[in-house]
Amino acid sequence: MPLTPQEMRALYPITRRYAYLDHAAIAPLATPVRSTIEVFLSRLTEEPFDLAHWERFRGQVRGRIAELLAVGPESIAFTKNTTSGLGLVAVGLDWEAGDNIVGVDREFPANIYPWMGLSRKGVELRLYRAEHGRIDVKALVRLCDRRTRVLAISAVQFWSGFRTDLAALGTALRARDVLVVVDAIQAAGAMRLDLRATPVDFLCAGAQKWLLGPIGVGFAYIGPRMLERLTPVTVGTDSVVRDEEYFEYDLTLKPDARRFEEAAPNYPGILGMGAAVNLLLRAGPAAVEDAVLRLADRLRNELPSRGYELVLKPTMPSERSGIVSFRHPRMVPAELHTRLREAGVIISLRSDFLRASPHYYNSDEDLDRLLEALPQ
Ligand SMILES: Cc1ncc(COP(=O)(O)O)c(C=O)c1O
Repeated sequence: MPLTPQEMRALYPITRRYAYLDHAAIAPLATPVRSTIEVFLSRLTEEPFDLAHWERFRGQVRGRIAELLAVGPESIAFTKNTTSGLGLVAVGLDWEAGDNIVGVDREFPANIYPWMGLSRKGVELRLYRAEHGRIDVKALVRLCDRRTRVLAISAVQFWSGFRTDLAALGTALRARDVLVVVDAIQAAGAMRLDLRATPVDFLCAGAQKWLLGPIGVGFAYIGPRMLERLTPVTVGTDSVVRDEEYFEYDLTLKPDARRFEEAAPNYPGILGMGAAVNLLLRAGPAAVEDAVLRLADRLRNELPSRGYELVLKPTMPSERSGIVSFRHPRMVPAELHTRLREAGVIISLRSDFLRASPHYYNSDEDLDRLLEALPQ
């Protein structure tokens, strides 16, 4: 039986006090996530470290992440966060002066700075400026030329909630030999990411938002084209095939994405992320997406009738995500934010607007609390 939103809610003690609607920022932890990490910590407090035992778990978590993306586990590497995932590509491709990267203006810095840093190698970062926050795939593709090596984009824009048509983008660029690199942190765990139907070359995310995992761990999907072209810059014992041979050096890299996991893994983080992904898989990615969109749609429908403006009004259903950003034409966003906090409603303040981001286990009562606390 799938895990219902009500059952999942019972695993979130934070819901007893707060209407927590801020999954685009940092997710609270569910009790099974916490207890999974605690089991690891207490075992290591009481017993000698059992490598084989924890490696089995690490393998299981890799399998679960792969299941969530509908790919094989050999294409998944664990990372520290989204930025370090994107950094694998920025430092690992064989750039030449005159190459360029096409990105999108107003992306979160995680998906800008790794590319900007390549200017020292003579690599240009071209930014697409989305009109009214709407990314037109055809116009974006037109920015690519024969020196474009990478197109870097978020699956969902962190500020507006605009969801990109990754399938159309991936299909358009496949023929042009441009590697499609996706920052998926605002989608993974909330919106379905079926990579069988979405030809991207690289996709990564930290666990701390919609994936409902701890902070300081994440994953990267490394597709076949990317694996072929990417050199692991940081290599260590875990990058190589003979990872338990410490004296006969042999720099033969593992044949898959694990070559990017250089050494001692973040077991507490990986195990915690695995426990969170288990919950999402038990709920079912389709059911999670439907519930998130239903809750977000309710806000998109009701906020305007209460005098609030949406930062982005999606024109097509496929542009929607779990992020609803809004402002009042006259009221100061910081004051509204404080007022909501005092009412136990947690959302984000981002420059001149507010951003709500409900997840599967949120209820209509949580949204009522938000709507009632907002002055009209
Ligand atoms: C689109 C996007 N990418 C990345 C991040 C965070 O990056 P990291 O996991 O490296 O901290 C955020 C967080 O706000 C984000 O919204």
